Amino acid sequence: MELRENGNGVDSWKEVTLIYNAALRQMETKMEILNDEFQHVHQYNPIEHIKSRIKTPESIVKKLKRHGYESTIENMVEYINDIAGIRIICSFTSDIYRIAEMIREQRDIHVIAVKDYITYPKASGYKSYHMIVTVPVYLSDRIVDTKVEVQIRTVAMDFWASLEHKIHYKFEGDAPEHIQDELVECAKLVADLDARMLTLNEEILALGQTGEERG
Ligand code: GTP
Ligand code: MG
Repeated sequence: MELRENGNGVDSWKEVTLIYNAALRQMETKMEILNDEFQHVHQYNPIEHIKSRIKTPESIVKKLKRHGYESTIENMVEYINDIAGIRIICSFTSDIYRIAEMIREQRDIHVIAVKDYITYPKASGYKSYHMIVTVPVYLSDRIVDTKVEVQIRTVAMDFWASLEHKIHYKFEGDAPEHIQDELVECAKLVADLDARMLTLNEEILALGQTGEERG
């Protein structure tokens, strides 16, 4: 590990890791609570599953270098927004915005940045809703607002992104053109599938309500 500690004391790296881990656990719990409450009120789970990870020291150092920063703990805390990352996988596109709104409404969460790659997909075909937020981590003597990267996407978008990531990695970002074209085509299929599944679900829900009214 090449990260240099700038006079923060020997425990700095360990302390930083502890704080990011705590922030991630906070976000996970918040999301699980929202999902449980949603189930209770609407008999429906907007979240299919949640994945989270802490960025490895190696990839933190690599990213700092890529952006021209020295590898220090101060720089990592200031410039790397995705040290703690949580990925929320939903069934339907509508759930994504619902969850984003619920996150935004939490009083102790501050939204620093949003990137809506669903309304504005990347040229690669990538779709996802990204938020950089802070959550408070309560330590014995202070509160540290800690950054967490939140990615919200549907199961289908996640399927696409996993394969695209694998391909991107394998070809070191320079995949043959026919593969890139095929990925863009697949992204269109994913968007179409998501839209049709959403419509289908809405139809089913409408039928359910009619049934209830009669019953
Ligand atoms: P990074 O430096 O890669 O973190 O990107 P960024 O700081 O410009 O932020 P952005 O919101 O664009 O991307 C953040 C994260 O989203 C990435 O680390 C990936 O996990 C994911 N992501 C962004 N673009 C793509 C893409 O084209 N394909 C896949 N598979 N994932 C992507
Ligand atoms: Mg990243």
